[in-house]
Amino acid sequence: MTKIIFVCLGNICRSPMAEFIMKDLISKANLNNKFIISSAGTSGYHDGEDMHYKTKALLSNKNIITKPFYSKKLNLKMCKENDLIIVMDNNNYNEVVKKFPNFKHKIQKITSYALELGYDEVPDPWYSNNFNETYDILSHACVSLLNTFYKKLLFK
Ligand code: 4NP
Repeated sequence: MTKIIFVCLGNICRSPMAEFIMKDLISKANLNNKFIISSAGTSGYHDGEDMHYKTKALLSNKNIITKPFYSKKLNLKMCKENDLIIVMDNNNYNEVVKKFPNFKHKIQKITSYALELGYDEVPDPWYSNNFNETYDILSHACVSLLNTFYKKLLFK
């Protein structure tokens, strides 16, 4: 079982989008018994809330389920339980390393799975309002992430 948590600042735009794109890919590949996918934010600003309505609308338009979900702040237990902590930008990376230094080896930036797109960070649609750009990066990177870990499962 591979456990992956996606992390952004607010846990209402980027990391929930990545969570449900990844769950959709895993379900279509019949790999539900191999992965556990979740998401969290570094801030807790939106604890208990649903994802941003534009993230939800975009995913629904692509026939990707968006439930169950509520926004939550990243904590120590989540860092311990997951094999990989996949962050969206350099601020997320620095925040998680600062708060949970023992788990630095688990933290990766999602853009490292989509190098050919040329992004160093996933732009935050909370500020850019460009949810489509975020979706394009995340859907590309999630396919690459799943390929990477599926191959690891095959050759284990
Ligand atoms: P996210 O976007 O980190 O992709 O969920 C944000 C959502 C909310 C805020 C910042 C970023 N905020 O400041 O409330």
